[in-house]
Amino acid sequence: MAKYGYFDDAQREFVITRPDTPLPWLNYLGQDEYFGMVTQTSGGYSFWKDAKLRRLTRYRYNNNPMDNDGRFLFVKQGKSIWNPGWKPTRTKLDAFECRHGLGYSQITGKKDGIEVEQLMFVPPQENLEVWKVTVRNKTKKAQKLSLFSYVEFCLFEALNDMTNYQRTYSIGEVEIENGAIYHKTEYRERRNHYTLFGCTRKVAGYDTARDAFVGVHNGLGDPKAVLAGKCTNSRAYGWNPIGAHQVDLTLKPGAEETFAFVLAYVEQGDLPKFDAPFVINKTKGKEIMAKYSDLAAVDAAFAAVKQRWEDLLSIYQATKVPNEHLQRMVNTWNQAQCMATFNLSRSASGYETGIGRGMGYRDSNQDILGFVHLLPERARQRIVDIASTQLSDGTCFHQYQPLTKKGNADIGGGFNDDPLWLILSTCAYIRETGDASILQEPCGYADKPGSKDNLLHHIETSIAYTLNNRGPHGLPLIGHADWNDCLNLNCFSKEPNESFQCVGDIAGSKAESVMIAGLFLYAARDLVGLYQFMGQSADAARVQGHYDDMLKTVEEQAWDGAWYTRAFDAASNPVGSKSCKEGKIYIESQAWCVLGGAGQTNGRAKKALQAVDKYLYDARYGCALQYPPYSEYHLELGEVSSYPPGYKENAGVFSHNNTWIHIGWTMFGEGDKALEYYLSICPSAKPDHDVYRSEPYSYAQMTASQFSPTPGEGKNSWLTGTGAWSFVVASQSILGVKPDFTGLRIDPCVPKKWKGYSVQRKFRGVTYTISVKNPKGKCNGVKSLVVDGQKVAGNLIPLPTDGRTEVKVEVTLGA
Ligand code: GLC
Ligand code: GLC
Repeated sequence: MAKYGYFDDAQREFVITRPDTPLPWLNYLGQDEYFGMVTQTSGGYSFWKDAKLRRLTRYRYNNNPMDNDGRFLFVKQGKSIWNPGWKPTRTKLDAFECRHGLGYSQITGKKDGIEVEQLMFVPPQENLEVWKVTVRNKTKKAQKLSLFSYVEFCLFEALNDMTNYQRTYSIGEVEIENGAIYHKTEYRERRNHYTLFGCTRKVAGYDTARDAFVGVHNGLGDPKAVLAGKCTNSRAYGWNPIGAHQVDLTLKPGAEETFAFVLAYVEQGDLPKFDAPFVINKTKGKEIMAKYSDLAAVDAAFAAVKQRWEDLLSIYQATKVPNEHLQRMVNTWNQAQCMATFNLSRSASGYETGIGRGMGYRDSNQDILGFVHLLPERARQRIVDIASTQLSDGTCFHQYQPLTKKGNADIGGGFNDDPLWLILSTCAYIRETGDASILQEPCGYADKPGSKDNLLHHIETSIAYTLNNRGPHGLPLIGHADWNDCLNLNCFSKEPNESFQCVGDIAGSKAESVMIAGLFLYAARDLVGLYQFMGQSADAARVQGHYDDMLKTVEEQAWDGAWYTRAFDAASNPVGSKSCKEGKIYIESQAWCVLGGAGQTNGRAKKALQAVDKYLYDARYGCALQYPPYSEYHLELGEVSSYPPGYKENAGVFSHNNTWIHIGWTMFGEGDKALEYYLSICPSAKPDHDVYRSEPYSYAQMTASQFSPTPGEGKNSWLTGTGAWSFVVASQSILGVKPDFTGLRIDPCVPKKWKGYSVQRKFRGVTYTISVKNPKGKCNGVKSLVVDGQKVAGNLIPLPTDGRTEVKVEVTLGA
């Protein structure tokens, strides 16, 4: 057993066996509108829909100790106080375990013969979380103890909540009824919602004022009320409202008691707001508490969480895969990460404070690539929402708030890769579902809301935008930045107090991006395929013409001799070229030119990948973003040169872009290389958790590279495009089950020594059981495809036309 924990694959859990992990190891609760983050010590917070505008509980980022706010239970027994999750008291436990599962976490702590288990989850389609708590007396004597619950309420708008104390210290309001705590700050005027924190068991007391429960000069490690063994029944009026309950228990030898705490976000809807002056209508809150006071309802809700995940995961499951890391990631954890990134984009994680970015245009489009198979209906709606933040000139709001669906004016648009990602997400949706009607979905532009334009119009607008905004080499203009947010070729920022991205004049700029050119090739080819599928051959031919022109430009202007140049700066000097002193080679232009189909006939694509292998790749960590790192700040390049060498966009291993190279290797049938590269960034395969530090079950955005003093350290886990793209790599490029417009295509690229594996894939109402055999020890090429006993030419499984819903597919590799 590894030092901090292990995978329990059968349960789809990661089991953490000691609380002092190298960093907080986080999990997500919820997948509809109510979300929570929970760490192995029950740290974290909850929100409804939008971590900025509807934050329910508080969390202090950049705190020390780290991760010291959460969903806490305190035990007071005799003189000792402790938490089953160890924090915040950090009293030494006799036993500890945290099971992070899909949509739930279960923390169990034991001390002096008392065991407390806290199971936290969000029931499907409900705006609440349940903590099922079981207290067990493992001794041979009767035991008396008090258990205290604790959350600190956020006053809903998280930014104001953590900055504007002259107001916030005077607005907090609560009501308490039958031990249930109703947090109703700002309810009297413009809010029609409250937070409920209740206990299904009779409570001996409560507190709602932080000063009363914790104390002004105490911390959560020694809260006054817990030390005293008694809540004060305080009522918050301003200051810092909290929710705490006291449950007194007397347990016979060997006895146990189970009850639940419920934390709920309640919207009143059409109900009358008040029962009486200052007394809110509690009908819904009471219904919730009545429902979950029945423990059978708690158990049924938890079973529903598990069943829902099993149903979702049954859409793609691989078995007998010769590599355990790939199998568990593709079957379980990678899909969980795709769910989290789809829901939260880059808004709320251990590193994203929930008050910043909201949903990202390019991020959310890419997230769909790894999510669309799970819940295509939701992906469909998201695509339309994202497109609606595009402007009619083709530019896009770079980010938008999920609650309002309005673009963030602060950051605006002008990230010139943004428009193109919409084509990838739309094509992925149509490949998955066959539903091209999405293209006709009415969908206005942000500057023409309510207009009758449709999604296809947005897609053509995106293509036109790239074509119409090109620089001196005929390559696309970069704007504020492209996929690499830190390549700011138009900013020339000398002021520490300004944004790297948004200063400078992009209107008059000539800086160009080869990465966008490659992405254009990829998107245009996708669109050609789509038009062919729709029978619009004239449109297919038109877009093919644009593809051919851009390809010619790339080959003529962007080949640097042994790899593709990354960009041309505002003075038209090359970036990512052998002629540069630092940053001679970048990963993104190799990736996208190869993925877009450049260099196929002239050998350059293979050379580009080999250059990545030679200059960027390190089997222990993955590929650095560029080489050599920048050792000094380059005014003409911007933020990319601001990070210390080996971190982030300055030659860190930025996992997201590694995945594109993995796909690149599979395009050349290099199955051994593809798997080796795949494993180099795979969290499950990290050998030493003290070095890697991040969660072993979730991709990190970046790993410190060989060019840093801390190589191998993972950072910014969970919310990264690596989630979606790694799932694409494993499920489609390596295991080779690829949704296509007219059916499932089988195109594996695996290590030579793999003998075979199986995949179950549900696709457009049919369950395919695909068994792949590799008797000749090849990497790729489908030699034979047998579908329900019938030999089929090529590698496309035709869609059944006779209503069959179960299809058996036998694949032999080695054409
Ligand atoms: C972050 C951003 C993403 C960007 C990447 C590279 O992951 O969310 O949009 O492409 O950094 O800069
Ligand atoms: C992206 C990058 C990050 C950069 C940020 C700029 O998220 O990953 O390095 O600071 O964009 O807003």
